[in-house]
Amino acid sequence: MFFAQIRAVGCALPPYIVTNDELATHMDTSDTWIRERSGIVERRRVADGVGTSHLAIEASQQALQQAGLKGEDLDLILASTLSPDYYFPGIGVQIQHGLGCRNIPAIDLRAQCSGFSWGLATADAFMRTGRYKRVLLVGAEIHSRILELSNRNRNFSVLFGDGAGAAILETQTGEEVPTAQNCIRGLIDHEMGTDGSCAEMLYLRRPGNAGEPTFQDLGEVRSEASLAHMDGQQVFKHAVTRMCAVMETLLTRNGLRPADLDLVIPHQANLRITEMLRRKFDLPEEKVVSNIHKYGNTTAATLPLCMVDAQADGRLAPGKLVATVTFGAGFTWGANLLRW
Ligand code: COA
Repeated sequence: MFFAQIRAVGCALPPYIVTNDELATHMDTSDTWIRERSGIVERRRVADGVGTSHLAIEASQQALQQAGLKGEDLDLILASTLSPDYYFPGIGVQIQHGLGCRNIPAIDLRAQCSGFSWGLATADAFMRTGRYKRVLLVGAEIHSRILELSNRNRNFSVLFGDGAGAAILETQTGEEVPTAQNCIRGLIDHEMGTDGSCAEMLYLRRPGNAGEPTFQDLGEVRSEASLAHMDGQQVFKHAVTRMCAVMETLLTRNGLRPADLDLVIPHQANLRITEMLRRKFDLPEEKVVSNIHKYGNTTAATLPLCMVDAQADGRLAPGKLVATVTFGAGFTWGANLLRW
């Protein structure tokens, strides 16, 4: 039997820290408002000249180094971002080249804040066939250049930050695969879902191909259509409902009670969302990873950034039973169960 195990994780964070006070110099907001509504204290911003693929490559190199591997050892890349360097091709091919990989497939996976969760599920499916042995999964985002630091976009632009995270997965073989009940380390189960009827509740319309006569129109550059749109209250409500439901599904299917989990890694969209999830499952604070105060919402990079942090503080240690749970634009949602 083949199954997937996470062998190492890595991250890349631009050094520049954007405080809430700095944002308040650009728009009518305040440190108090942002902290109270979202839990965010600061986030990172890349310098000019840095691309999303650069962050992705840096995070991947760190993960490869942790695993004692080189780019040429990989046989599949899965890359997730909503903020690629180019409209096409995606960043997967740039990662393949930048890491000096062989001519392996590099798949771009678009699922926004659920990207890394769906990437784990996709990697697992490929690896269980025995076809791919060493898979690199990357989530990388540069949000800062999409954000307009203005009053009209303030409900959106205070929430997001730049960063990247990566995981190296390696195929293991054995008589048994990991389950919630045995102690075998590896990926156990996944759940994914979408509700496309909500696509326009959180989206960036222009430039694009939704039917306008041009892909990009100079006159639109500062229009509402070229700003990310978010119905914050709807997103909040759906996020809480879907994240709780997908976690419930994963627990029930695997015969688990919430208390059986050693750690929960939720997508970092808003501290209030994380808290509602934590209370719903009656989990103690130390069992739920939260780093939104440092990085804001980093979309596809969030789960691996949490993994790096939780590994550093000792909560993510070999043998721990872990659930991830995500929600993002689309709407998309996901959950993964794994033994670290
Ligand atoms: N600073 C100060 N005031 C702001 C603001 C900001 N950055 N953004 C919005 N406001 C104002 C609004 O204009 C509104 O003012 P009004 O009452 O005069 O009309 C007021 O704050 C309340 O706005 P509201 O949207 O009701 O706030 P909220 O409590 O819902 O919090 C979010 C706003 C965006 C923080 C919250 O809705 C949220 O987190 N939603 C989910 C977002 C998310 O997770 N997105 C990513 C999903 S992956």
